Amino acid sequence: MIIEICDSAAIPEGEIRRFEPEGFAPIAVARHEGRLYVFPDRCPHADESLAEGWLEDGRVVCGVHFAEFELDTGKVHNPPVGCPNLSFFRCEDRDGKVFATLTGGPEYV
Ligand code: FES
Repeated sequence: MIIEICDSAAIPEGEIRRFEPEGFAPIAVARHEGRLYVFPDRCPHADESLAEGWLEDGRVVCGVHFAEFELDTGKVHNPPVGCPNLSFFRCEDRDGKVFATLTGGPEYV
């Protein structure tokens, strides 16, 4: 199911925002070089919010343990023990709105 998340303008370049779509776990939406990325707002190894981290060199950085996840591949760098790669939801920027496919869980991209 494709869910409308927010206005596209709500995600400035280089920023991450947290959303809580009804019926789904919180998600994070980031914009890097104009492209949108949607992923769970929860680090894959623990329960920290990635929306409270930041973007740097095409990666999302966990502000608690400083693991870095590549936005284009999900590959993790500098991981704490047991921290896997990040997975993403399919998303699109259409008619000024951000849409994401949240059913079925995130996928690696
Ligand atoms: S919670 Fe996993 S790197 Fe911070």
